[in-house]
Amino acid sequence: MKTAVTEMFGIGIPVFAFSHCRDVVVATSKAGGMGVLGAAWMTPEHLEQELKWIDEHIDGKPYGVDMIFTSAASDISGGKSPRKILPRGHVEYINALMTEDGVPELPQEDVDGWYEEYAANLSFTQDESDALFEVAMRHPIKFLVSALGVPPSHVVERARRAGIRVGALVGSSRQAEKQADAGMDVIIAQGTEGGGHTGSVASMVLWPEVVDRVAPIPVLAAGGVGNGRQMAAALALGAEGVWCGTIWLGTVESELNPDMRDVLYAAKSTDAVITYGYTGKPCRAIRSKYTEAWAADDAPKPLGVPYQSILSGEPFRRAERSHRKDWMTYASGQVVGQVNEPKTVKQVIFDMLTEYADAMERMETLLQD
Ligand SMILES: Cc1cc2nc3c(=O)[nH]c(=O)nc-3n(C[C@H](O)[C@H](O)[C@H](O)COP(=O)(O)O)c2cc1C
Repeated sequence: MKTAVTEMFGIGIPVFAFSHCRDVVVATSKAGGMGVLGAAWMTPEHLEQELKWIDEHIDGKPYGVDMIFTSAASDISGGKSPRKILPRGHVEYINALMTEDGVPELPQEDVDGWYEEYAANLSFTQDESDALFEVAMRHPIKFLVSALGVPPSHVVERARRAGIRVGALVGSSRQAEKQADAGMDVIIAQGTEGGGHTGSVASMVLWPEVVDRVAPIPVLAAGGVGNGRQMAAALALGAEGVWCGTIWLGTVESELNPDMRDVLYAAKSTDAVITYGYTGKPCRAIRSKYTEAWAADDAPKPLGVPYQSILSGEPFRRAERSHRKDWMTYASGQVVGQVNEPKTVKQVIFDMLTEYADAMERMETLLQD
């Protein structure tokens, strides 16, 4: 296939895989698309490890890194134990509900260890952000993506001088305009259907709006793309490629454990709900007793970023340890209803392309008399 982004990155298929899992990144790039590693919550040491592994396995194919720059960062270290900075009422609310529902408690040392580990990843100072960027720059990345907000101009300039293309996710045409002004090479427009942090405008409306607003900057369509018919719709609406997240969660290569996979395969599109209980910002994730708990009338108001994410660590681990699938959740978009069995990344891409070709053929027949 040939679009503005296949030309820009020298790839054969305009399919981008956002993933926190290095295996998915490598498999996508090897299949002819482009894998982009979600590094937002990694420490610099962890990112270095992951990128080294990718370099060793990707056969020189292009790949990217997605991170959060300092405008959205927060320093929560301050020398305090992470659990102590959380309001007690919030911690007790969710833990009491789990106890009442028979979910075993975690041993105290496990709780403490978990908070330390979680908070180390979520604490984000200017220095840590810069260190993460420096790590990325030491590797042959071809695409640097800002997950939230406009990246600082020195980051954009340095990346571009090194021949790296810069992109950003947006959920409205207003955000798209700001990112275009900041010099993005690619805009990723994510409709509300998408997994993770998400806005309120649906893909069908958002994609063409953003395409028109930022032209001639190429737009990748995100949110609700998991098969070839959806890909055909995205390209028909003016996108130059698709950026998918949820569809990779069900692949053989994905990071999900067996219990979470069961939850994912069973989930319908209506189960991908917006919750504030995950991170404190509107985030689309699979409905569970955990998301329901934070949506209840008597629930405390979820905390802000990154405190709600820190708070969610203990209940998530409690559910995982006790195999309580009814309490498990994971960021997922509405296409989760299409993810029903394990497939390899290569197979997902192959199916997408076959279905895309069928869809195009069908469209052509509609023009004949
Ligand atoms: C599990 C998960 C985690 C995500 N985390 C991030 C992230 O850290 N940074 C980011 O830019 N986007 C993140 N996203 C959003 C994806 O980049 C992508 O835009 C979205 O998944 C597209 O919609 P889809 O889920 O319908 O494919 C995440 C999505 C999922 C499913």
